[in-house]
Amino acid sequence: MAGINNANGGRKEKRLAGSVALVTGGSRGVGRAIAHRLAMLGASVAICGRDRAALERVAAELEKLGARAFFHITDVTDAKQVSALVAEADAALGSINILVNNAGIGLFGPAHEKTEADWDRVVNTNLKGVFLVSRAAVPSMIRRGSGDIINISSLAGRNTFAGGGIYCASKWGLMGLSGCMMEDLREHGIRVSVVCPGSVATEFAGSGPKNPAKALSPDDVAHAVQAIVTQRPGSVLSEIQLRTLRKA
Ligand SMILES: NC(=O)c1ccc[n+]([C@@H]2O[C@H](COP(=O)([O-])OP(=O)(O)OC[C@H]3O[C@@H](n4cnc5c(N)ncnc54)[C@H](OP(=O)(O)O)[C@@H]3O)[C@@H](O)[C@H]2O)c1
Repeated sequence: MAGINNANGGRKEKRLAGSVALVTGGSRGVGRAIAHRLAMLGASVAICGRDRAALERVAAELEKLGARAFFHITDVTDAKQVSALVAEADAALGSINILVNNAGIGLFGPAHEKTEADWDRVVNTNLKGVFLVSRAAVPSMIRRGSGDIINISSLAGRNTFAGGGIYCASKWGLMGLSGCMMEDLREHGIRVSVVCPGSVATEFAGSGPKNPAKALSPDDVAHAVQAIVTQRPGSVLSEIQLRTLRKA
C-alpha cells in the first residue's frame, strides 16, 4: 500500500534538487531525521516502514518542507514487498539515486538466552533487509552510472560488549556487506558509505538510551548523511564513526 504527497515549497539550500532518495525506516527516529534533512536539501523523498499512520505523518512533514514525498508500507525482510517498494517509488518520484538503508531493530541480552526467532528477526532486518533493498535499487543506479548508498550501522558493528551478541553480529555483518558493496559498485560510479553512530536518543529497542541528554541526536546522524551525499563527486566518505564528544 502506498501514498504520494506532492508539494511545492521554498527553501534556501537545494543542493539535492532533482535527486530521489529512499530512506528505509523513515517513519521515526534516525530515519525520520535523515528524511527531513534530505528534503530540506531539495530531494524528493520516499520512506518505508510497517506503520501506516507514522509514515503518513512523516510524509506530511516532508511535504511541509517543500519536498515531493512518497511512503510505502514495507517490511524490508520480505523480498516481494521490497520489489514493490522500489518499483512504486520509482513510478511516483523517479529513479532512486540516494538509498539510505536505515531500518533496524535492537535486541539485547546474552545470545545464549535468545530464541532462533530472535536471531532471525534481528539479522533479517538489520542485514538481509539491506541486501534486499540494495539489490532492488542498484540496477537503475548502474544504468545511470551514479548513486549513493548509505548503510546505517553502529559502533556495535566495530565493537563487542556483553549482551550485544545478536545485534553486534548483524551490524558486524553489515560492515562486511557495506565494504564489499563499496568495492563492487565504485567502478559503476556508485558510492557506498557506512555510518556508525554511538547511542542515539530514539525509541530504539523499545526504551532508548539510559541518559538521552548524553546520547547523540538523530539530527547528528542526518548531518553525517548530508556530508556523505554532498561530498565532491569522485570521492567517497566510505565510513563515518560518530560519537558524543564527552563520554557519559
Ligand atoms: N538508537 C540508537 O542508539 C542507534 C545507535 C546506532 C545505530 N542505530 C541504528 O539506526 C537505525 C535506526 O534506529 P532508530 O534508533 O531510529 O530506531 P527506531 O526509532 O526504533 O526506528 C526504526 C525504524 O526502522 C523501521 N523498521 C524496523 N523494522 C522494520 C522492518 N522489518 N521493515 C521496515 N522498517 C522497519 C521502523 O518502523 P516500523 O517499526 O514501523 O516498521 C522505524 O521507522 C537502525 O539501523 C539502528 O540499528 C541506532
